[in-house]
Amino acid sequence: MLWVKSFHVIFMVTWFAGLFYLPRLFVYHAMADDAVSIERFKVMERKLYYGIATPGGILTLVFGTWLWLGYGFTGGWLHAKLALVAVLVGYHLWCGRIVRTFRDDGNTRSHVFYRWFNEFPVLLLVAIIILVVVKPF
Ligand code: HEM
Repeated sequence: MLWVKSFHVIFMVTWFAGLFYLPRLFVYHAMADDAVSIERFKVMERKLYYGIATPGGILTLVFGTWLWLGYGFTGGWLHAKLALVAVLVGYHLWCGRIVRTFRDDGNTRSHVFYRWFNEFPVLLLVAIIILVVVKPF
């Protein structure tokens, strides 16, 4: 199971690399006003979301479920973690909607909104890591 856990963590890092950098791209994209930059951000966002963050997220969930079945864990920490993972998946899907909105030149939000949006996955990461390592309940 240690191999499974290693890959769970590796893909989690891949997923978060995407979830941390994608909203940064939204910040710069929302500030951009020349066509060359705007088209370049669209390509970067598409590749980061579909090529890195989404496969990383799917594989994190696959290896996490494998660990869960393998260890047979139960407990409040696991249920709390799974609830936060559900919120994380919702955030990921929201990022996908924003990628498509920018692709269609339909963004109406300011760069300030995306700066705050960028902070949210940090809170989820801190909470999930504490739950899974400390197992406080
Ligand atoms: C379907 C979703 C998930 C399930 C079922 C799941 C389940 C598990 C299980 C059963 C373990 C083993 C715990 C232990 O050995 O003490 C584990 C470890 C871990 N999980 Fe997840 N996980 C999921 C998603 C995530 C996500 C989204 C993150 C990060 C945000 C994450 C971060 C970690 C970390 C860092 C460890 C290693 C902890 C340690 O070795 O002490 N997991 N996961």
